[in-house]
Amino acid sequence: MFASPTFTPTLGSSTFSSRRPIASVMSALRSNSASSCPVLTKFQKECATPTPFLRNIADAIAADMRAGLAVEGGGDLKMILTYVDTLPSGKEEGLFYALDLGGTNFRVHSMQLGGMEERVIATNSEEISIPQELKIGTSEELFGFIASKLANFVANENIPGRFQLEQGTKREIGFAFSFPVNQTSIDSGTVIKWNKGFAVSGMEGKNVVACLNEAMEAHGLDMRVSALVNDTVGTLAGARYWDEDVMVGVIIGTGTNACYVDQKDAIPKIQSISSSGTTIINTEWAGFSKILPQTIFDQEMDEASVDRGEHLYMKMISGMYLGEIGRRVLLQMSETSHLFGQSVPVKLSTPFALRTMDLCRMQEDKTDDREMVGSILKEVLEVEANLEARKRVAEVCDTVVKRGGRLAGAGIVAILEKIEKDTKRLSSGKRTVVAIDGGVYENHPLFRQYMQDAVVDLLGDKFASHIEFKHTKDVSGIGAALLAATNSIY
Ligand code: BGC
Repeated sequence: MFASPTFTPTLGSSTFSSRRPIASVMSALRSNSASSCPVLTKFQKECATPTPFLRNIADAIAADMRAGLAVEGGGDLKMILTYVDTLPSGKEEGLFYALDLGGTNFRVHSMQLGGMEERVIATNSEEISIPQELKIGTSEELFGFIASKLANFVANENIPGRFQLEQGTKREIGFAFSFPVNQTSIDSGTVIKWNKGFAVSGMEGKNVVACLNEAMEAHGLDMRVSALVNDTVGTLAGARYWDEDVMVGVIIGTGTNACYVDQKDAIPKIQSISSSGTTIINTEWAGFSKILPQTIFDQEMDEASVDRGEHLYMKMISGMYLGEIGRRVLLQMSETSHLFGQSVPVKLSTPFALRTMDLCRMQEDKTDDREMVGSILKEVLEVEANLEARKRVAEVCDTVVKRGGRLAGAGIVAILEKIEKDTKRLSSGKRTVVAIDGGVYENHPLFRQYMQDAVVDLLGDKFASHIEFKHTKDVSGIGAALLAATNSIY
């Protein structure tokens, strides 16, 4: 339907035709299964997500989705109304900007849009890491920093004549903001609660957009925010620009979340406002916390967290936590079963010493002598591990990744089944695309495979054959810029 794209940020997509290439990898892991270790055996048992149990989890997520759609605060999932009722169509024209404030970095983008014929003429972007102190500083400090970087970016841009600013207008920005926001319109909202290590003060009850607008003004920027969107919404919108079958946007990175296209008449809590057409719902699924396969390690990690008792689903799936769960298991194996010999490695006692990236790399090690496991243990935890210990470590990593991937799959199924109930897309054989991004999804093929296998296990091959997972890399900012265009006030 759309003209061929001049710029397509999709990395790759996968359907379910080549299901379970993972099997050989995993049986190799298991056939060499390290001899019994009570901590490991118990951990594996408690993390297991056999299909009937996963079905219960998908159903419980679906029940919380319904509760959240019925009334504000009705369930663990907030089911936030995003006010994104119109998705990019390809007709957008002009120069638009985006700010993408995620977990670790923020990105600034600009996009020159040429309408249906020319589509994306040029893009420019810059990634800037956020100093740790700003994540726990004041809102003035954080937004001042962002505005100053944006000012530098804008100052260095070469803007073609056709995109020069007209008198009396401002440049428009889409703000992709990866935290739960109580959205009050397309361009306003208040932070519900910071997470992913952010705890910025002075934001209570304050409009996020007003904070940014003030900082931009202070830096002499002639710009205004036209769309405030969650990163999942930016991902869905960006992916939709090139593919009209995109119905779901998912992030599995430092944090995790999903949004989807819903029918307004299937959302009881908006019946009084308007009830026709579609809108995007930001599920904030991170908050799901029921019947999850929680182990003592999850409980202890949660106890030590700033958002204790909350976001339990996210704490089993996303990049901020998987490494830490693994570290806690290894620490106990080391203390009780002498995993690494008589002494407990000092580094193993340091919270968050093992990154999710390392955990996944160890899980993916298929070599006979677990070379990668050995070198990561040495580099990161400063321990020398024999082959038996390395195999056990690999099993711990696999258990954590498998549980995370399958739980994420259950969430996706709950959303797809909601869409199916209202639209019958899958049963009528319509291709349905899930646009996904985030470091855990991007960098860890076995996580992806576990997730996709769970979707097939729950939906069955017939439905699953119409579903496509598309990796849409770094699209959230682009989607936010496109939504600024769609919601332009000029
Ligand atoms: C936030 C979501 C966000 C997700 C992915 C979660 O921690 O609550 O709003 O979409 O991370 O970045």
